[in-house]
Amino acid sequence: MGEALRDGFGRVHRSLRVSVTDRCNLRCRYCMPAEGMEWIPRADLLTDDEIARLVRLFASMGIAAVRVTGGEPLVRPGLAGLVRRMAGTPGIAEVSLTTNGVLLADAIDDLVAAGLARVNVSIDSLDPERFARITRRDDLGRALAGLAACERHPGLAPLKVNAVAMRGVSEPDVLPLAEAARTRPWIVRFIEVMPLDAPREWTRDLVLSGGELRAMIGARWPLVPAAPTRASATGTRWRFADGAGEMEFVASVTEPFCATCDRLRLTADGRLRTCLFAEEETDLLGPMRAGAGDGELAAIARAAVARKGPGHGMADPAWTYAGRPMSRIGG
Ligand code: 5AD
Ligand code: SF4
Repeated sequence: MGEALRDGFGRVHRSLRVSVTDRCNLRCRYCMPAEGMEWIPRADLLTDDEIARLVRLFASMGIAAVRVTGGEPLVRPGLAGLVRRMAGTPGIAEVSLTTNGVLLADAIDDLVAAGLARVNVSIDSLDPERFARITRRDDLGRALAGLAACERHPGLAPLKVNAVAMRGVSEPDVLPLAEAARTRPWIVRFIEVMPLDAPREWTRDLVLSGGELRAMIGARWPLVPAAPTRASATGTRWRFADGAGEMEFVASVTEPFCATCDRLRLTADGRLRTCLFAEEETDLLGPMRAGAGDGELAAIARAAVARKGPGHGMADPAWTYAGRPMSRIGG
């Protein structure tokens, strides 16, 4: 233990995304089928104690930021208690949350009290009917109430709103979301749709690129590039030229940012993934339940990081789907 998690390309890993459940209260089209999603058996989900132990272990190897993801993380009972344990882990400087916001209004006070520092809320459309068509649930009102509840905690600023963009679907949502970035205290981030949906319906044509989105918005409200906040940031930052706010474009498909990746992912069933798109994942739950000590688990994790590939290779037309859909990896 002790030494930083460096891969074969010299990338040092500082950020861990922890999926606390694969369950969700929405059924977004780019993520899940309408019905019949197969869930991880409950017995295979990491317990709070197991997650806390792994976070401690990763923190001892240089992980400083934890992002809690799902599925929808707020459907996991007792999440605030788990966040408190993460935030109190020596070496962990920041715990953040990516959520669909539906259950957030009633949860955010406890989460902030537990030490939650940042929130990203996924909202693909500000129109209730379009939101319902994309997520297959009529819950825009609750998601917006969740965001409003976050606005009452100034310490959470800047609030980020994630919107997945799809050609033929999202065009009517682009300007309203950009306008919200100008008028609300939110940084709106458009995310290129990635081949991570369980039904495997993604095609390259579905990708409404960061460049196209920037052009659509810039034609209405000119945008100027802003400096990245972190070298490992996934989104490129742009400010409105008139100073009215900020946007980000996460162009994972058309402008990959693999070269500066500092992220690792822990799935809800205790597998370590070094890349969203890697076929390989490394079981930590099995060894942990078989009685492995911290040194042994650290060695397994370190070896997995050493095997991390250079990138997702989506530019290659022969590229194929990764092993797991998003809801089982945790964005
Ligand atoms: N492509 C891009 N983003 C996705 N997300 C879920 N599925 C996909 C996909 N196929 C997003 C969610 C959320 C974050 C965790 O990942 O909308 O913002
Ligand atoms: Fe749920 Fe997120 Fe998947 Fe939508 S994208 S179904 S909110 S896990």
